[in-house]
Amino acid sequence: MGTEARIEELRELRDEALHAGTQRAVARQHEAGKLTARERIEALLDKGSFQEIDQLVRHQSIGFGIEDKKPLGDAVVTGHGTIDGRPVFVFAEDFTVYGGSLGKVVADKICKILDMAMDTGAPVIGLKDSGGARIQEGVSSLDGYGRIFERNVRASGVIPQISVIMGPSAGGAVYSPALTDFVFQVDQTSHMFITGPDVIKQVTGEDVTKEDLGGAITHASKSGVTHFVYPTGGEALDAVRYLVSFLPRNNMEMPPFYAPDDRSDRLDDSLDAIIPDSANQPYDIKEVIRTVLDSEEFFEIHERWAQNIVVGFGRLDGHAVGVVANQPAVLAGTLDISASEKAARFVRFCDAFNIPILTFVDVPGFLPGVDQEHGGIIRHGAKLLYAYCEATVPRITVITRKAYGGAYLVMNARGIRADLVFAWPSAEIAVMGAPGAVNIIHRRELAESDDPDDRREELISDYESRFNNPYVAAELGLVDEVIEPRETRVKLIRAMEMLRTKRETLPPKKHGNGPQ
Ligand code: HXC
Repeated sequence: MGTEARIEELRELRDEALHAGTQRAVARQHEAGKLTARERIEALLDKGSFQEIDQLVRHQSIGFGIEDKKPLGDAVVTGHGTIDGRPVFVFAEDFTVYGGSLGKVVADKICKILDMAMDTGAPVIGLKDSGGARIQEGVSSLDGYGRIFERNVRASGVIPQISVIMGPSAGGAVYSPALTDFVFQVDQTSHMFITGPDVIKQVTGEDVTKEDLGGAITHASKSGVTHFVYPTGGEALDAVRYLVSFLPRNNMEMPPFYAPDDRSDRLDDSLDAIIPDSANQPYDIKEVIRTVLDSEEFFEIHERWAQNIVVGFGRLDGHAVGVVANQPAVLAGTLDISASEKAARFVRFCDAFNIPILTFVDVPGFLPGVDQEHGGIIRHGAKLLYAYCEATVPRITVITRKAYGGAYLVMNARGIRADLVFAWPSAEIAVMGAPGAVNIIHRRELAESDDPDDRREELISDYESRFNNPYVAAELGLVDEVIEPRETRVKLIRAMEMLRTKRETLPPKKHGNGPQ
C-alpha cells in the first residue's frame, strides 16, 4: 500500500472513530436535551485546542455478543486541550456507545489521562454520562472503577479535579465524582444515586422519583454532593471554564493573576451603613463580599446548600482569594453540621492549592438542638476547626459583628493562627451573648432580686457595654486593627500583598487524623 493510501486509511479510521455512536444513538442523545461527548469537549475547551488520545482503542472482551461490536475509541473520549490558553486534561463519557458504560478499556483510557495529568501537573475535568459498570464485562469493569478511584485519591491536593454530571451516574460509580474537588450537575438531565428508585422501593417501600432522589437540585440543596447546578450542559461547561480561572494548575503553582478592572484604593461608603442598628436584625453578607472584591465579582460555591455559611472565589487586586463568611440572613449565621462541612472542605481546597483565605465573621454560635448534637455537631464542627488550623496559606479575618464563644475561634480567630484579624467598630467579641452570660454569672443575684426582670436588663446592658465591642480584643492584640467598614477592601488588598510571601510548614507526618 502506498503512502497516500495509508493516509487515506488513517483518515477513514479517524472518521469511523468520530462516529462511534450510531446516528440513532446521537439523535436520542439530542432528543434527551443532551450534547454528545465530542460536542461537550468542543464547548469546554478553547476552539481547536483538543488533542485526542487513544482514539483507536477497541475493547477486547468477549461474551454476550459484544465481541461483534467493537467501536473505535469505545465509550469515552479522552485527551487534552486548553482553557484560556492553560492546559487541562479531559475525559467525556460517550453515552452513544454502550450507554457510556465503563469496561476495561474505558477505565484504561481514563487512568491514562489521570496519570498524564499528574505527571504534568494539570487539572482534570471529567464529563460524566454513563450507565455505570459495563455489565457484559463483569468484574473487570469493577476493577476499572477501583483503578480510577485510587488515582482520584492520589491526585487529590495535587491537581484540581472537576466532575460534571451530564447524564446518569449511578451505583458505586458516583464515588469518582465524590472524590473530586468540585461536582457540577445539569438540571433535569443528570442523576446521581447509590441505589435507584426501584431498589429503594423494594427495600424500604419508599416511593421517590429519579429527580427527587438524585437530581441536580436535590444534591445541590439537600445532600451537598453537588456544588453547582446549571440549566443546560453548555452553561455548566462555561461555568467550569470560569472556575478554572481561579485555580492554579497544580499544588506547586500560584493561581493565575488577572489584571484587575477595579481600583485598589476604592473606598465604599455603603459598608458603613450595612450593619443594622439592632443586633438581631439580619443583613446579607454577600453584599459585603461583593463590595470588597474586584469588580464586585463573587463566584459562589454550594449556593443552595447550608446557606448559613457562604463560600466561593473572587479576586483582590487581581489575585484569587477563597472567601468564607457567616450569613446572618440564614439561621442567624449560626454554624451547624452542614455549614461546618461545607466550609471545612472549601478551606482544605484553598489550602491545598495556594489560595489565600478571607473569612468574614458574624456568628452568634453553634446551632443549638438535639438533632445537631446527636448528628455529631462536635465532630463536624471540629472539621472546620481542623481545616483552618492546618491551613498554611495566608488567612485573614474580618469580624463584622458577632463573634461568640467556640464559633469565634472556629472562624479563623487569632488563637488558631490567623495571620491578621480586622474588626469593624460594630464587632461584638465575647465568650457568649449577653442574656446567656448574665443568667449564668448573676443567677444567685437574680434569684434573690425583688425585681429580677429589671435587674436582668440592667446587667445585660452592663455586659453589653463592656463586651459588645472590638476593643477588649484589640487591647489584648487578638484583633490587629479596628477599621472603618468603608476601608475594608483597601486594608485587605494591602494585607494580602504583605502576606504573599508567607511561608509556613507543618511538622513532618504521614498525615493527620482529623475528625471525619
Ligand atoms: C452495558 C449499557 C449499560 C451498562 C446502558 N447500556 N447501561 N450497556 N452496561 N451498564 C446500554 C444499553 O444496553 C443501550 O444499548 C444503551 O446503553 C442505552 O441505554 P438505554 O437503556 O437504551 O438508555 P436509557 O433509556 O436512556 O437509560 C439509561 C440508563 C439505563 C438509565 C442508564 O440504560 C440503565 O438503567 N442502565 C443500567 C444501569 C446499571 O444498572 N448499571 C450497572 C450498575 S452497577 P443499545 O445497544 O440498546 O443502544 C455499577 C457498579 C459500579 O455501576 C460499581 C463501581 C464501584
